[in-house]
This record gives sequence, structure tokens and C-alpha cells, in this order.
Amino acid sequence: MFDTFEGHAVVDPTVDGKHKVGKQFKATSLEKVERYLRYYDNVQITKGDFCQTATVLDEVGDFWSVHVDVDVYPVTLFALRYFANRMVPGGMIVVDDYGFKRTRGAEKAVEEFVGSRDDYARLHLLTGQAVLIKLAAGSSDAG
Ligand SMILES: C[S@@+](CC[C@H](N)C(=O)[O-])C[C@H]1O[C@@H](n2cnc3c(N)ncnc32)[C@H](O)[C@@H]1O
Repeated sequence: MFDTFEGHAVVDPTVDGKHKVGKQFKATSLEKVERYLRYYDNVQITKGDFCQTATVLDEVGDFWSVHVDVDVYPVTLFALRYFANRMVPGGMIVVDDYGFKRTRGAEKAVEEFVGSRDDYARLHLLTGQAVLIKLAAGSSDAG
């Protein structure tokens, strides 16, 4: 898992509304989350802007499940592009807050991503998330 633990690192003021750099989500710390998750030996936490820290995953194999919950446009789009070619067929990227007015940046990033990729199908859950499913090669022609 990845977080700055200092709130947003980058926002797009044209779409991210009230979200500001370093303003929200600061009432936590790496140490608190490490303590909370101390009983799980399969968790690795990386602190920092995901646009910079994603490189720690460069040598990791394919992914079948990714959860993106960063609320704002620039890093949501970055994460989608980062994982796009790393997902196994049938793998799912869940983007939280896709359907909510207060997080238009997440919606914009998903729309842009899906519009540029015919190898992903999108589900919009009633609970607000988008689920992006990586299609098997050739299946996007099936209709
Ligand atoms: C809605 S909170 C979700 C936090 C956590 N997933 C949870 O459910 O408690 C959004 C989180 O995205 C983090 N975030 C925003 N921009 C980020 C970035 N560029 N890199 C890493 N984390 C970022 C914020 O620090 C914040 O903790």
C-alpha cells in the first residue's frame, strides 16, 4: 500500500474542487498505520507521492486486484496508466469515489482512461466505485 501520509501531493484545481495539496488527510502517520496492521506479515507500506514511489513495484509480477482511493485527478490517472498493462486478464482495478460529486477528479481520470483503452470494461457500482476489468486479448471485439 501507498500513501503520502501528508495528504494530497498534487491536485488539478480545475477539477479537484475543495481538495488541496497537504490540507486533507493529515491526521495520521506511517507509524500509526504500521501499528494498526502489525499482525499482517504480507503488507508493505511505502510513504510518498505514488507518482514517485510506484517504481518500487516495477519488478513485481502481474496484478489481479488493485484498489485506488486517492480522490484526485492527477494521481488517479497516473495509477490507472501505471497498472493498465500490469493487470492479468480478468484482473480488476477498483477506483473509489468515482460516482461522487466531491471527487470529480476520480471520475474524470476513469473516463479518460476508459476512453483511451478498449481492453478495459467499466462497471459503476451503486456504492460509488468504478470497477475496471481487464479483458482477455480479443474479447473487446465480442460486443
Ligand atoms: C480518501 S483517503 C483514503 C485513505 C485510505 N485508503 C483509507 O481508506 O483510509 C485518500 C488518500 O490518498 C492519499 N493520497 C493523495 N494523493 C496521493 C499521492 N499522490 N500519492 C500517495 N497518496 C496520495 C491521501 O494522503 C489520503 O490518505
